[in-house]
Amino acid sequence: MQTITTVTALRECLGNQPGIAFVPTMGNLHAGHVHLVELAKQRGQCVVVSIFVNPLQFGPNEDLTSYPRTLDDDLAKLEAVGADIVFTPTVNEMYPVSQSVIIALPPIAEELCGATRPGHFGGVATVVLKLFNMVFFHTAGSAAAVFGKKDYQQLFIIRQLVQQLNLPIEVVAGETVREADGLAMSSRNGYLTAEQRSAAPGLAKVLQQAVQAIQNGRLDFASIEADAARRLTEQGWAVDYISVRSASTLVPASNEDMELVVLGAARIGQTRLIDNIEFRAKP
Ligand code: PAJ
Repeated sequence: MQTITTVTALRECLGNQPGIAFVPTMGNLHAGHVHLVELAKQRGQCVVVSIFVNPLQFGPNEDLTSYPRTLDDDLAKLEAVGADIVFTPTVNEMYPVSQSVIIALPPIAEELCGATRPGHFGGVATVVLKLFNMVFFHTAGSAAAVFGKKDYQQLFIIRQLVQQLNLPIEVVAGETVREADGLAMSSRNGYLTAEQRSAAPGLAKVLQQAVQAIQNGRLDFASIEADAARRLTEQGWAVDYISVRSASTLVPASNEDMELVVLGAARIGQTRLIDNIEFRAKP
C-alpha cells in the first residue's frame, strides 16, 4: 500500500492503471468505510482511497475543527483490507487557490440535510468532482467510485453529478453497516456520551416503525413522519426532518410509489446523526 499526498504523485502513480475503483472518505474509518473498500476490491482493480476532511462542506458553526482525525489507525485498517493507494492531501494541496468554482446542484440539494446545512452538498459535489479529476483523469481503463447508502441524499446527488456532467464513472452503492443495536456506524458516533450512545439507536428504531406502518397499509405519510418526529422529540432529540420519499427520485412519496426510503436527521446533544431505510411498500 502506498500513501500519496500530492496530485502530481497521484497522477504519476495512476497513469497506467487499467482500472481504478475509488473510495472517497474523510477518515476516522469504521466498518462502514471498510465495507466500501471491500466492494472496491471485489472489482479486481487498483483500489484508491482518499482521506480528506473537506472544509468546503462544513458550515461555519459545524464540527470541522473537532472532526476526528486518526490517520495512523486509518492506514492500518486500509492496509489490512488491502487498499493499494491512499491519497491524503493537505487542504492547500486540494485548494491551492480559494475555491470559487462551486458546482451548482438541483433543488434537492437544498432539501432534507440541505435545509439545515446550506451549501453542504455544493461543497461535497465540488470536492468529489475534484477528486474524480485527480484519480481518474489519466486513466484509459474502467472507473468506479464507491459510496455508502448511509448518506442516501449524498449518493443521489453524486449520481446526478455523474449523469448530468457525463462523467465516465460507474457509481457503486454500499449498504449501511450498523452496530449490533441498529445504530448506523458514523464517525460522529464518537462524539456521544455513554448516555447518548445508549439512546442513539432510537433514530433507526423510529424509522423502522415508520416502514412498518407503511407496510401495514398506512399511506398518510405526513402523519407517519410527524409521529416519528414526536417519538424522537419525546426521547430528547431535536429533529431536523423525518421524510418518506421515492427511493429513485427522492421526491416526497406518493400513493403510487412502491420503492421508498424513509430518511431522518436529528440531534442528540450537540451531535447530529442521520439515517435512512430503503423499503418496498406492500402493493
Ligand atoms: P465520510 O463520512 O467519511 O464517508 C465516506 C463514505 O463512507 C461515504 O460514501 C459514506 O456514505 C460511507 N459511509 C459512512 N458510514 C457508513 C456506514 N455506516 N455504512 C456504509 N457506508 C458508510 O461522506 C463523506 O465522507 C464525504 O462527504 C465525502 C464523500 C468523502 C466528500 O468529502
